[in-house]
Amino acid sequence: MNVVLLGLPGAGKGTQAKIIMEHLRIPYVSTGEMLRQAADNRTELGLVAKKYMIKGELVPDELTIGITKNRLLNADCANGCLLDGFPRNIAQAQALKDFMQAHCKKIDVVIYVDVKEALLMERLTGRRTCEQCGAAYHVVYQPPRIVSRCDQCDGNLKRREDDNEATVQERLRINKDLIMQLTAFYQSEGSLRVIDGSQGIEQLMRS
Ligand code: AP5
Ligand code: ZN
Repeated sequence: MNVVLLGLPGAGKGTQAKIIMEHLRIPYVSTGEMLRQAADNRTELGLVAKKYMIKGELVPDELTIGITKNRLLNADCANGCLLDGFPRNIAQAQALKDFMQAHCKKIDVVIYVDVKEALLMERLTGRRTCEQCGAAYHVVYQPPRIVSRCDQCDGNLKRREDDNEATVQERLRINKDLIMQLTAFYQSEGSLRVIDGSQGIEQLMRS
């Protein structure tokens, strides 16, 4: 099964992805994570991508489409995957549709995590991620047992570079219109499902 998770920055895509992935037993493909990893590894692509990411801007399509298609060609995606952060615009949605068709596949369902914009700033500026294992926390909504330490591996928790207030504002501004265009696109494809992401994490897990 091929699933796409759509939502504004901070809507909880990554949080929901972990639950869906375990449930459906499909690999998680996060374009944002791949780009951050490339930036940490200081690859040519990563260094270019970082310039856009730290400003909250979208990385150019030719880079994101290329990196995502490469990942989808991996053997572990043969029976489906969970896409988070791709597509972000109609050009990417069309490229994904063409790629799927060329491989006799399709996007089975698109889950739009709908969250009131007012909640997003707090969610993102309060997010903390483990430097060692990548586990995600929130200082209020999903706090670790010990401040700044990961429950799972005792690694140090840090704030993502693009989670400061100014960059979050830019991310929201850029993505607002695009997300509406994408939900309209997938609505017309008949694959859109909307979930109310404003509920707490526990409530969402049960729904
Ligand atoms: P990416 O990494 O994809 O970030 P994003 O889309 O901005 O989304 P986030 O990961 O920040 O948020 P999320 O929805 O996953 O929220 P989370 O579950 O962590 O992209 C980063 C950058 O890479 C982009 O800005 C762009 O530059 C580039 N990029 C990526 N893909 C691209 C593409 N296709 N094209 C071009 N450029 C691309 O939750 C957030 C916080 O809230 C957490 O702390 C969590 O604990 C908490 N939380 C989650 N759910 C709830 C809840 N229900 N109640 C209370 N708290 C909650
Ligand atoms: Zn950890």
